[in-house]
Amino acid sequence: MPNHFCSAEDCPDPAGWIREALILKETPYNDKLLGTNKTLGLIFFNASLRTRLSTIKAAQNLGMETITFNVNKEGWQLETAQGVVMDGDPAEHITEAAAVMGGYCDILGVRAFPTLLDRKEDYSEKYLLGFQEYAGVPIINLESAALHPLQSFADLMTIEQHKKKKRPKVVMTWAPHVKALPQAVPNSFSQWMQHYDADFHIAHPEGMELDAKFTKNATLSYDQDEALKEADFIYVKNWSSYHDYGEPLKNQQGWMVTLEKLQRTHQAKLMHCLPVRRNVVIADNAMDSKHSIIQDQAYNRIFAAQLVLKKLLTRS
Ligand code: CP
Repeated sequence: MPNHFCSAEDCPDPAGWIREALILKETPYNDKLLGTNKTLGLIFFNASLRTRLSTIKAAQNLGMETITFNVNKEGWQLETAQGVVMDGDPAEHITEAAAVMGGYCDILGVRAFPTLLDRKEDYSEKYLLGFQEYAGVPIINLESAALHPLQSFADLMTIEQHKKKKRPKVVMTWAPHVKALPQAVPNSFSQWMQHYDADFHIAHPEGMELDAKFTKNATLSYDQDEALKEADFIYVKNWSSYHDYGEPLKNQQGWMVTLEKLQRTHQAKLMHCLPVRRNVVIADNAMDSKHSIIQDQAYNRIFAAQLVLKKLLTRS
């Protein structure tokens, strides 16, 4: 087990971990003593519902204490660059702050979204890497600029739980949104799907191509209707442009996922990481249909996080 859980690369055995996490879901309190006298720190630079609550619940299932810190609202503004004269707004350097938090906690989770202004800077993952370098304890990625591995791990658990054939057709489709959103969820899902036995397709409008290193095993299409044919799972997500960095699509018509589209699939299960804007991204009639396994997906976040914490607590 690596020292951190920040990407699919930190999971040495995805299929085995999925099996173990689904077993944990049935027996969540078997390791109640594992986390005795251990503290999980959850450091949020951005808002969260699922990641925050599911990871706290996961830690509680293992007997851990938790500390949650909303840095931007409650802490000092952090400087991440080295060698700068700190005569501007940031009052504290990540070098000291991460070391202090690592001193108070046994494991730290960090959420730090991208600015969507500067791709090179965002994808450098300066917060995640800064915590890895200076905290001195294992770091869990709670969604960074480029990746959201706890979400993707729970997504694969959910597919495994619901699949009716050994190698299902899984389609991730771009959908409209009113704001420019990061690429972290689709990047991460695509990265994890490289380690999962499925016929994986990605449908998106022209210009919305993700970084090719994440999508190299996927079949790419600009035609949503064509991609959705015979789909067993449809993962709906908006993202802004990677190549014209941070730009939303100008004409988004025709990409919202509806019940009518689901009815033309192989009785596909509908997935979304949440939060979702109803009747922008997915229509009410699809959200409220029997196709949706979105609540299962959110529930599985607990056990994905619990297995990751268990692995970090027991790593050799
Ligand atoms: N899916 C997800 O990460 O939800 P939150 O942003 O609410 O944590």
